[in-house]
Amino acid sequence: MQDARLYSLSAIFQTPDEIAHAAEQTVERGYTAFDVHSPYPLHGMPRAMGLKASKLGYVTLVFGLSGAALALFFMWWVNVIEYPLVIGGKPLFQLPAFIPVTFEVTVLMAAIFTVVGMLFVIFRFPNTSHQLHDTPYMKAVSSDKYGLTIQALDPLFDEERVREFLQDLGAVEIHRIQFDAEEIEARPRIFEPRFVTLLILVALLVGPSTYIILNHVLYMPPFDWMMEQQKINPQMKSELFADGFGMRSPVEGTVARGHLPYPFKGQPDLAGKFLVNPILPTESVLELGKKKYDTFCSPCHGNFGDGDSRLRGQFPNPPTLHSDKSRGWSDGMIFHVVTEGQNIMPSYASQIKERDRWAVVHYVRALLRAKHATEADLR
Ligand code: HEC
Repeated sequence: MQDARLYSLSAIFQTPDEIAHAAEQTVERGYTAFDVHSPYPLHGMPRAMGLKASKLGYVTLVFGLSGAALALFFMWWVNVIEYPLVIGGKPLFQLPAFIPVTFEVTVLMAAIFTVVGMLFVIFRFPNTSHQLHDTPYMKAVSSDKYGLTIQALDPLFDEERVREFLQDLGAVEIHRIQFDAEEIEARPRIFEPRFVTLLILVALLVGPSTYIILNHVLYMPPFDWMMEQQKINPQMKSELFADGFGMRSPVEGTVARGHLPYPFKGQPDLAGKFLVNPILPTESVLELGKKKYDTFCSPCHGNFGDGDSRLRGQFPNPPTLHSDKSRGWSDGMIFHVVTEGQNIMPSYASQIKERDRWAVVHYVRALLRAKHATEADLR
């Protein structure tokens, strides 16, 4: 029976050569739960101890690759799904532009999780205690001696035989290291309630305080000086103008953006001479013209321009549009009458948009032609 409180037999050697030899022999004997301690790194020791390459590299690889995937996914999501802004005609997903960020996040994730994995998984942080700490053995091997420790949990461990084996290797001292029950009791573990509570507390504190600091303490409104300037809103009183009105009529001659004033005001001759219908009489244009004519013109001029007003008795009857006079008019002339009105016919400029007025002109032309079709029109 082994002593249940025995941790290990730990032997001290004088020279690096002895410890290297001892490590090789230990491996040969088949011990697996053993370790070597030296004040400085010894070349060739990992090989002498038969150590395999650390698994930490895989942690780095896995988290590096997830970093790359995460960065690419995030940029794809933002640029293609959430904010698909076309910039300079470039495709939404443009790998070359994403390489730097992908690289950075890969390195960041790999580095952070290598440290986290090393600390928490391999070193078992927050556990900072070990049986060998504070022993004369550890004092010796951290100044000028070399140590070999064979743990009691090794399946081949037998205290007498291990002691003999270590003596044969040339150990100058052999320490019997025992568990310290109190210390084991006090040893913190990673999922220990105290530690987990601490983590949750930190998370609870860091989240809201980051939010408050960024949004309130250090908040910088985006360029709001135009919003905050002194100004007068519509309908507000003005202290500056003598009449007290905040709203002013525009300076004389002001032209609204996108609207040129009608250049042939009161000049039908010039309009008839210089205005040219800017749109083609396509089917849809004629349909549009018919719609507008039926709505706005037919009440007075009749459905076919015969001057058979539906407003008889309430408004003077207009002349027929099929007279030689208006048949001889240019498109510009008809447009001018619709735009400016003529004598008692009012202006339709405010009710029919400019383009629609030209469509009406095409439609009126079609009406005129329908009543005076020549043989050529039939072909
Ligand atoms: C409120 C009734 C009324 C409406 C609506 C009306 N007109 Fe007139 N239109 C008249 C009258 C009345 C005259 C004759 C004016 C005059 O005495 O010179 C006239 C004259 C005209 C003339 C000149 C005819 C000529 O021989 O001098 C044309 C062209 C014309 N209208 C086209 C239109 C078109 C196109 C529309 C639809 C956008 C329209 N009108 C809407 C009442 C109207």
